Amino acid sequence: MAASYYVTTPIYYVNADPHIGHAYTTLAADALARWHRLLGEDVYFLTGTDEHGKKIEEAAQKAGISPLEHATRVSARFRELWQVLDIEYDDFIRTTEPRHEAVVADLWQRMMAAGDIYLGKYEGWYSVGDEAYFTEDELVDGRSPTGHEVAWVVEPSYFFRLSKYGPRLLEHLRARPGFVRPESRYNEIVRFVEQGLQDISISRTTFKWGIPVPEHPDHVVYVWVDALTNYVSALGGPDAPLYEQFWPEAVHLIGKDILRFHAVFWPCFLMSAGLPPPKSMFAHGWWTHAGRKMSKTFGNVIDPGAMAQQYGADTFRYFLLREVTFGLDGDFSEAALRDRINGDLANDYGNLLNRSLGMLQKYRDGVVPSGGAAGPEDEALRTAFAASRETLLKAMDEMAFHRALAAIWDLVRAGNKYVDATAPWALAKQGAAERLDAVLYNLCETLRIVGVWTLPFLPRKAADLLDRLGAPADVRDVPSTAAWGRLPAGLQTTVGDPLFPRLEALAKAPPETEKKPETPKPMPAPEKKPTVTDTTTIQYDDFAKLDLRVAKVLTAEKHPDADRLLKLTIDAGDGRERTVCAGIAAHYTPQEMVGRTVVLLANLAPRKIRGVMSEGMLLAAGAETVKLLSVAGDLPPGTKIS
Ligand code: MSP
Repeated sequence: MAASYYVTTPIYYVNADPHIGHAYTTLAADALARWHRLLGEDVYFLTGTDEHGKKIEEAAQKAGISPLEHATRVSARFRELWQVLDIEYDDFIRTTEPRHEAVVADLWQRMMAAGDIYLGKYEGWYSVGDEAYFTEDELVDGRSPTGHEVAWVVEPSYFFRLSKYGPRLLEHLRARPGFVRPESRYNEIVRFVEQGLQDISISRTTFKWGIPVPEHPDHVVYVWVDALTNYVSALGGPDAPLYEQFWPEAVHLIGKDILRFHAVFWPCFLMSAGLPPPKSMFAHGWWTHAGRKMSKTFGNVIDPGAMAQQYGADTFRYFLLREVTFGLDGDFSEAALRDRINGDLANDYGNLLNRSLGMLQKYRDGVVPSGGAAGPEDEALRTAFAASRETLLKAMDEMAFHRALAAIWDLVRAGNKYVDATAPWALAKQGAAERLDAVLYNLCETLRIVGVWTLPFLPRKAADLLDRLGAPADVRDVPSTAAWGRLPAGLQTTVGDPLFPRLEALAKAPPETEKKPETPKPMPAPEKKPTVTDTTTIQYDDFAKLDLRVAKVLTAEKHPDADRLLKLTIDAGDGRERTVCAGIAAHYTPQEMVGRTVVLLANLAPRKIRGVMSEGMLLAAGAETVKLLSVAGDLPPGTKIS
């Protein structure tokens, strides 16, 4: 029997329209769902909307309509966006649906029966923006840690004995290091639980827009108890067959801001109700824009629908999952998106398709040849295939989408190199028909494999690629890419228009690209050896302007457009991942760089180096032989050098 896989997104508040944050989690979940389907698993992908609570009630009041009417309108906008972004969910749950409300009441009664709910009085701070309670200590400048207003509330409330479940939760966490990912978030949760848990208020009496507490309808169920239950109610509740099949495999994708609700409250509610916690969860980072949190006030909100309309849904999907390490924060830049389109998608991926099928058309009337003569260039292509496959499978297991895509692109680039190395036009001229057959076949097989692997990320374009190849259904899944050579000969291919037309009109690019100096200044500059006469005395203040830090290399790859450069992603301890181009490709391999601790000049003005925005410079010594600077001992990224 096929393995089961259950992936969920948070259910989104319907107080306002969907934004990039919602799109991000949902398309990560969609990519995972598609990947697991391609593996042949039985997949259930759930998303939906969170429609109760004070926040929605207030938004509806503002709009002058009933909360349900408001929720219905906004919930529809989420579904419209998911259609635009090609999100293929299996179920969309709304917390105002009776099927959900019934399971919330059931869960409440189970927790009550376990003796874990008691009546008390809540007195403390509440933030409607977060729909969360805060202690005095947690407030930052009189606001919630996320910057929302708080109000002092005093009301009768039911409490949940969270304190009782601390030890059991800790045991659960310790036995399952993968319960919360990434690891840094797991550690954060373990530390939090180790400090001991306090009981929490789980009902409200000062407003009505919620699910009534069973037998005490003057209370409504706290919106987080209500919302979290969606993951079970969508499966039909604890006695339903869908629950039996999928609940043991549940993986929650969430943003880092709602981790505590998922990793602490939710498992404890479930334990109290006599149900097992989900299998695991993954908390991703936040997108900022122009270095700031997105907000209407700053006018820097990215509309995912508009982006998808302008650049194409596939492109937008690809960019969000390729640009930033899943788990870290990232800064959205339209210029970077355009770079990815012109570089990865047009130059690499689209080009491989068009030149391969173009040659196949020219030399073999577009028909995939069979067999052929092996040649010395084949080895490198096969090796690239095997290496990409291994990295890809592991990366998808770890939800490291950026690494998965980088691995696929290693094969794409190997395919393009194969064209250059085998020079099919020369083979045609020489009449080396057998070798030409083999080369064209290998290119088609590369395309097929790349096409299958990119289906989760570029669902339309990859399907288009496979259609142009004429690939039958049985060679369009992941198992069919386990070994080289499954593409049958004799298929009729069609070239078609470029898959990803280049964006030539750079004049229309946003100002941020134009302002950046175009001339690359890679480091280190070996031609300019400093000499004693170059040295002038500086004041300490001059030195203090340099933000030198310990940093860690997360990923490394060859710069797509410059042999001298490596393109690195680096953790400089500032909560985000940055890209740095370093002129060290002749001295270090990408593999040697991953995981290495380096010294980074972090506040060097960002500049674009051959199409890649580089933020900072690694320090190195030497000219002919270049050695990177490092620090003795084990210091964490971000440690200042002074
Ligand atoms: N309704 C709750 C979730 C209940 S789940 C049982 C909620 N909704 S939300 O609409 O406010 O946010 C949903 C998700 O969007 C969260 O995972 C949050 O992390 C994510 N994002 C909101 N803004 C974001 C960015 N700017 N960047 C990335 N994701 C962010 O919380």
